[in-house]
Amino acid sequence: MHNQHMAIHLANHPLADDLLCTLRDRRTPPERYRQVARRLTTLLVIEATRHLPTEATKVQTPLEQTNGRSLGVGLAAVPVLRAGLGMLEPVLDLFPDVAVGYVGLERNESTAVAHTYYSKLPSMDGRLVLCLDPMLATGGSACQAIDSIKERPSLGVVMVCIIAAPEGLATVEARHPDVPVYAAALDRGLDKRKYILPGLGDFGDRLYGTF
Ligand code: PRP
Ligand code: URA
Repeated sequence: MHNQHMAIHLANHPLADDLLCTLRDRRTPPERYRQVARRLTTLLVIEATRHLPTEATKVQTPLEQTNGRSLGVGLAAVPVLRAGLGMLEPVLDLFPDVAVGYVGLERNESTAVAHTYYSKLPSMDGRLVLCLDPMLATGGSACQAIDSIKERPSLGVVMVCIIAAPEGLATVEARHPDVPVYAAALDRGLDKRKYILPGLGDFGDRLYGTF
């Protein structure tokens, strides 16, 4: 993956491109939206965990013993409420032993500055933490969520988004240079209300039918 930004890893997969078109399409209704968001997140999480350490193990097949690799570390997932909840289920499916915490953040509609209204994080010691938030716009929400996660010991944080804006990516890179960002797309920029362009609108509203 060659991007102008060091820290972003784009999905770069035909299926991801196709699913993203459905999420962008203004006609996609919430039920389909949730389904497609889950599928796209599956692709992103597979990529975001590509470098998880593994351990040598032996496994007995019905025919003989062979060598295998099993996961060497655990995962934690922290969806940012509310929109990040649309990305949680595929993580639970792929990594059933994941420890899940929640951070509730809401942007003020006029200033676009996020404030924390809920935070409940488990022990993440010895685990790699996936921070799930579909829209990285100004980056304020992601940075606050990562700040909270970093108050506790863990093996590190990876940010998983659907769409990143250059502004948000630059903010995360500056404040959390150790946190790689995985996304389906890096969009053009932000409008006056700090919505991503071309984007997909308000992810939480589209996911939960609150227009
Ligand atoms: C959205 C989105 C991100 C945040 C991104 O949340 O889900 O959390 O905005 O914007 P930022 O990068 O400028 O901080 P929103 O405040 O709309 O809340 P919601 O998820 O409850 O709809
Ligand atoms: N949050 C969203 O849901 N969409 C945007 O474009 C920006 C922030």
